Formats: sequence, C-alpha cells, structure tokens
Amino acid sequence: GCLLRHKIILKNMNSIAKPMANLHVSADAKAAFAHSNPVDGYRYHISETLAPITGKPSSEIYERLAWTQTFDKGDLGLPVPALRIQGKKPGELAVEFAEKYPESELVGKPIVNGTFLQFYFKPEPLSKLIVPSILKKKTKYGTNDKLGLKDESDPSSKKKIIVEFSSPNIAKPFHAGHLRSTIIGGFLANLYDAAGWDVTRINYLGDWGRQFGLLANAFEMYGSEEKLERDPIGHLFDIYVEINRLSKSEEDAIKEKKDELKQAEEKKQDPTELQKEISAMEAKSVNEKARQYFKKLETGDKDALATWTRFRDLSIERYEKTYARLNIHFDVYSGESQVEMSRMERAVEQLRTSGLSEDSKGAVIVDLTKSKDKNTKKLGKALVKKTDGSSLYLTRDIGEAVKRYELYHFDKMLYVVSSQQDMHVAQLFKILELMGNNEVAEKCQHVNFGMVQGMSTRRGTVKFLDDILRDVGEHMHEVMKRNEKKYQQVNNPEQTADTLGISAVMVQDMKGKRINDYEFSLERMTSFEGDTGPYLQYAHARLCSITRKANLTAQDLESADLSLLTESHAINLVRALASWPDVVQNTLKTLEPTTVLTYLFKMTHMLSSSYDVLQVVGSELEVKKARMALYEAARQVLSNGMKLLGLNPVER
Ligand code: ARG
Repeated sequence: GCLLRHKIILKNMNSIAKPMANLHVSADAKAAFAHSNPVDGYRYHISETLAPITGKPSSEIYERLAWTQTFDKGDLGLPVPALRIQGKKPGELAVEFAEKYPESELVGKPIVNGTFLQFYFKPEPLSKLIVPSILKKKTKYGTNDKLGLKDESDPSSKKKIIVEFSSPNIAKPFHAGHLRSTIIGGFLANLYDAAGWDVTRINYLGDWGRQFGLLANAFEMYGSEEKLERDPIGHLFDIYVEINRLSKSEEDAIKEKKDELKQAEEKKQDPTELQKEISAMEAKSVNEKARQYFKKLETGDKDALATWTRFRDLSIERYEKTYARLNIHFDVYSGESQVEMSRMERAVEQLRTSGLSEDSKGAVIVDLTKSKDKNTKKLGKALVKKTDGSSLYLTRDIGEAVKRYELYHFDKMLYVVSSQQDMHVAQLFKILELMGNNEVAEKCQHVNFGMVQGMSTRRGTVKFLDDILRDVGEHMHEVMKRNEKKYQQVNNPEQTADTLGISAVMVQDMKGKRINDYEFSLERMTSFEGDTGPYLQYAHARLCSITRKANLTAQDLESADLSLLTESHAINLVRALASWPDVVQNTLKTLEPTTVLTYLFKMTHMLSSSYDVLQVVGSELEVKKARMALYEAARQVLSNGMKLLGLNPVER
C-alpha cells in the first residue's frame, strides 16, 4: 500500500510547484498536496513543524488547525488552549510558540492574537502552487478519489453509497418536501461522486397502496387514453382528484345513514332495513372497489398489474424528463411496490419470534416505549401489520432496507427525507437494529430538512415540479427584460431564463441550513442582487466575458508569470481558490449544501470587488496574462462548485 502511495506522490510531484519538492515534510503532507487538497498539505506542514515545539503529537495539532473567518486573521488558526498544555497561561504559550516557529518557504512566522496563533501562507509560492494546478486539473479540481477508497492502495476498492431521494407519490402532488429532497439529494450524490465513492441513486416511489385501486377505477370511469399518453402525471392526478371527490360524497352519504341508524336504535325501531341499505352502499362504493382492486394487485392478478405497470411506467418516463432539467438522473426507480410480500412477512415473523412485537386487537405493533433506553422510549408504538393483514409504509421500508443491503452491500445509505418523517425514519432504524440487522442500521443515515412556506403557483397550489419550474422561468424572464441592454445580448433568452430560474429555486433551497424552514419567494430568488442563483450565474457569465475579451491562448495562461500577482485582491483570491478542495472535504462532514454556497458567495464577492483593481483588458501583456490565469482559475472553481450543487453555469 505504502509503495503505491509513494509512487502516486512521486508521479504528482512534477505537477507540484518547486517549493514543495524541496520542503522537508512527511509523506502525508506531500500526499495531501499531490491529491490536491493544498490547505490540508499546509495543515500537515504546520502541525509537523509545531509538534516538537509544543511537545504535542502532530496529529493532535492537525485536528485543531481551523479555518479562519476572514483572511486578515490568517489562512489557518490554532486556538492554543485546545492543546491543553498544563502549567503556563495559553497567551504566554502562544507567544513562546510563535517565537520558536521557524519560517518556511511556504508559511511565515505565525502572528499571536490573544491565545490564537494565526498562520499565513506565503503569497507567491501559493499562487505558483494553486493557479497552475487548477488550470491543469480543470473539472477535477476539488475532487478527491482517494476519500472513497476502502483500501488506499487499491483504486478499484471504492466504497459504496446509496442515496435515496426525491421519492414522490404517483398520482399525488409533488410537494415542497419532494422538491427539497430532490435538490439536496442530487447534491449529496454529486458530493460522494466527487469523493470517489461508488454512488447509486435510488428513487423510492410511492407507487403502492389503495390509491392505485382508486386510480384504476377512476381511469375506467373518467380516463382518456389520449390524455394519458400526452400528460400522464397530470391526467392521473386529475382523475384521482375526481374519484376522491366521488368517494368523499359516498362516505358522507354513508355517514348520514349511520346517524339515522343510531337514532332509530335509540328510538328502539327496527334497524334491519337501514342496516341493509348501509351494507349495500358500502358494497358498491368506490372505496370498496378500490380495496378489492388493491387486493388483486397484492395477490398478483395479471390484468390489474398490467394497468398498474402502465401508470407507473408512464409516470416515470415523465419524471425523468423533469429531473433531467435539474441535471438529475436515477440509477434505480424502486418504490413501495418493489418490496415483496414474502419479505415483509419474513420481517414481521422475525419481529414476532424475537419477542419485539405483540398483537394488539388483531394488528401487530412494536412497542418501543417498553425499552429501557431513554431515546428508544420516545419512539412510541410502531404499527407493522394492520388488522386486515395488509402491509404498511414502515413494514415496506424495513423490507426494502434489508433488500438493498443484500443487493448492494452498501457502506453507507442516506435517506433524504423531510424532518416531518423524523419519527418514521427513527423507528425504521431502531427496529432494523433490534431485529438483529445492526449491520444495516448502523450504515443508515437520515438527512433531513425543514419545510417551505408559501410555495404556490400563479394557477393555485403546486401540483408538479414542472409547474414550479415553469413559473420561476417565466418570472425570471420578466426580471431579465428589466435590463434592456443586457437582455439584447442574450442569444436564447427563453432558455437562459429557464436555466437561471432553475438556479434560483435551487440556490434558495440550499442557501440556509437544511433543517431551517424558508419562505418561497419568487421575487427574492430571481434577483441578480444578494446571495441568489442568478447572482452566481452572473458572476460566471462575467468571467466568461472577460475571457472572450482578453483573447489569450491556453499556452499564454500556462506560461504566465504569477509573481506579478502582487495586489492584495489577487492574493486573497488565490487564498480563496486554494481552499476549495478543503471546503469540499468539509462538506462531506456537514452534508450541508450551505457549506459550498457560503464559500461560493464569499469567493464571488471577492471577485466583484477585484474587477476595478485587477483589470485585464488594457493592462501590459505579462500582467494581463497573469491576471487572466487567475480569473480563469476562479471561473473553473466557480463552475466546479456550481456543478457540484447541480447548477448549469451559463456563459452569457
Ligand atoms: N413517498 C414518501 C412521501 O412522499 C417519501 C418516501 C421517503 N423514503 C422512505 N424510504 N420512506 O412521503
């Protein structure tokens, strides 16, 4: 393993700027540079230098070296109290360590700020290390295949992750919960991809249950082949609404009769006639028909299944088109229908024999309140089998999790599901564990998120993803028209409006911490000012425009003399670009898209304040080349970040 790792390092050494080659640092530090997480390389370098000075192991220092809030506080900071050194005041220790710390080719002497040590990367070596590396690695800058390896010496030993996300319900509205799951899940899948994991994207459709009985009946009563072909999702939804209306009125009528019956019984009248009437009404109700139809589905009736398959396939076909607009694809369309009855029966049986479940009025429940564990107690009672013997959402999830483990042997599985289902998911994981599937349970993680308020379309409440995207696109188009001069320069305004609109929705969704609720605001998200999707797109398009105007070759940029980047704006930009791979690595810990967005906004704000100072067109040729190399590196990082989030960077 070690040998191969050193070979990789040696191979990459050529691409590392001179100062690194001469530096006396460990293999770990060199590997970090070689695998293009430069900040991590510096982290190793500083902690190894500090180890003998502080008497603490470098690994401990490494853990404590943190990002700074702003670059005036350095590139990395060390809170001396965190090292827990006895006997001296941390402030005094900080001074002592700073005095003893030898300046190297990469890092200057640290600055003492109270009990903090602030480390500054030297500008010129940093520029010479970072800019060429970005220009060379291009879309790969920020990715790190090594992170997803089971065995570092074997590049084929990828860790396996399942990301389950989106998971809408067929014939029901695509609500904000599904929107958030789609956006966040798509991002997380990209993130693990970038870290070299083997990612499988699963869409777990709500495609089973009595609603399909209702739907089949609805199609018989109100369906149209032509409409189904043209707009399956819309048509199925419409007829589903229609039959629910009918079912509701039938239910009301039955309830009325039952009230009559009650009164008759109180008055000691003969109830027989009324009882007969009620039974007859129930027997011919659409609800009863739906129940029978679903029974046929669950027992494998060929015709019923054929109809169901058709509804499902047509819906998936349509979903795929919409997901493609968001740069999302799924490897597997699973769903509640895909969990075999036998599997669920086995699960219920396993729960019974291990004494976890109990019968409760003909149903089967798992009573977690009986647990001694305080956290398990809170999970309440979970129903795993209904009185009529039919299966449940939870039971299907148990079966599906076990099935996925058998199929994929995953190292990790993410459930990207709204925090409204916290209880459900916690019950699922706990029951899996108690059943003896700890191996599965411990690899599962719930990635939850808060609610969206006020999401509605102009035509009323939201039904489908396409409605949302269409509305935002239209609104975006209007915003673009407000700037007539710029609008004239866009080649295909409709399409650009559509792309910007999608960016607007996605950035609004990923801007805050996942768990926070947010207010859906067309006006705010489509603005070119403030931290919005259109703002990022504008920043990218502006860099593209500078490139077009500068009209330099790739060779010009590669040979640029980067020592000419002396202005503080240029230096700070380089420092920001250097930290991108470390941001990605940190995002793997937070699993928060805002970690990436906060970075991108900070970087683009720095860019926009640089344009006046670091002009390209009109500068002397060598300066022009150096600045253009820097801007091209910035464009590359911005583009990589946007793509990681699932956005399509525009060029104009
Ligand atoms: N279809 C479900 C809903 O719309 C979400 C599925 C979440 N995933 C799961 N494995 N339960 O509420």
